[in-house]
Amino acid sequence: MAREFSTVGVVGLGTMGAGIAEVFARNGIAVVGIEQSADWLERGRDHLRSSTERAVSRGKLTADAQQEILGRILLTTDTAALADADLVVEAVPERLELKQQVFGALDEVCRPDAVLATNTSSLPVTRIATGSRHPGRVLGVHFFNPATVLKLVEVVSTDHTEPGLTEDIAAFVSRLGKVPVVVGDRAGFVANALLFGYLNQAVKLTETGGVGYDDVDAAMTAGAGFPMGPFALLDLIGLDTAQEILLTMHADTGDDRHDPAASLRALVEAGRLGRKTGQGFFTYDKPGSGRRTDQAGAGSGDRAAIVETLLYPHLADALRMRDSGYATAADIDNAMRFGCGYPKGPFELIEEIGVDRVLASER
Ligand code: CAA
Repeated sequence: MAREFSTVGVVGLGTMGAGIAEVFARNGIAVVGIEQSADWLERGRDHLRSSTERAVSRGKLTADAQQEILGRILLTTDTAALADADLVVEAVPERLELKQQVFGALDEVCRPDAVLATNTSSLPVTRIATGSRHPGRVLGVHFFNPATVLKLVEVVSTDHTEPGLTEDIAAFVSRLGKVPVVVGDRAGFVANALLFGYLNQAVKLTETGGVGYDDVDAAMTAGAGFPMGPFALLDLIGLDTAQEILLTMHADTGDDRHDPAASLRALVEAGRLGRKTGQGFFTYDKPGSGRRTDQAGAGSGDRAAIVETLLYPHLADALRMRDSGYATAADIDNAMRFGCGYPKGPFELIEEIGVDRVLASER
């Protein structure tokens, strides 16, 4: 019998944590949302309120249903409230010691049979798990931004994870209406490992290629059918997060393509972190908003050339990942379709374009 998860804790209620809490609550699950201070808790409450209000204003949710969802989420700074949780998902900032501390603290308050999960996007789950005295009950559950919309959840096991646990969590993820992809613990897992090389190359292209951000975004949306161009997407993800993921990837692969582009580093240094600060590659009407106030460029440039320069190496990376045995073609297609909204997965695209043409771009 697969385990039941009827009460779930979420530690850290930033963009991702709040989104994850909302996903659980929308599925009828009792949620305990934890933040470190009253101020941060208020910020979490605001995320939850504005996200559900947006759904109400779009006619996707009734006001009553919104109240029911919010009513399922207990918000508190007291970790003792996690005593009854069947599963706790940690979504605090990406600092290893901080995450290890959280897992140590969870050992103190959670039931011995509770499952502890991390939503890390860039740190090794295996190392985070060492924060717990029981690393067998720790695994990764990696959601994608916006968590309420994107269906992918990477379920990441380590060498210590108890047998059967990833299967139980994958079954639970499916019951939430999400698509689980089960993988081992490797830098970037599937989706980020593929996505961030491509995003970084897009930034580097604008540093050397005489093309602007809007040119590249228009090429990758209109030309390649992606839901967002790389610059709009980087601003959504957060440039600090993007830089952290790239640094982890770079340390792991040693590949120059993962060395964060100079203009990405400069924006992070200047505190221009994307939508969340109101400024990143583009400028927005207020922090947290996706409404641009800068003048969008015409998006001209040679779209086909831009697409070839960025898409083909991205697809070649997918081929290499499959050939390494880390993930199957089907898992990679699912990861990119359900995690990044691609209309077709990399292998579906390779099928159309032809593997020879994709690989020829690398010579
Ligand atoms: N927050 C919450 N919900 C949002 C949202 C946001 N920022 N933006 C859009 N939505 C919701 C809308 O409410 C709408 O929901 P309903 O259908 O229930 O009304 C739905 O998304 C579609 O919205 P729109 O029609 O306004 O916009 P769209 O069709 O252009 O889709 C998008 C917006 C879903 C963001 C789409 O552009 C997309 O999929 N982009 C790719 C995003 C992506 O790649 N994310 C992964 C980043 S990597 C990551 O997260 C991992 C990591 O570790 C960093």
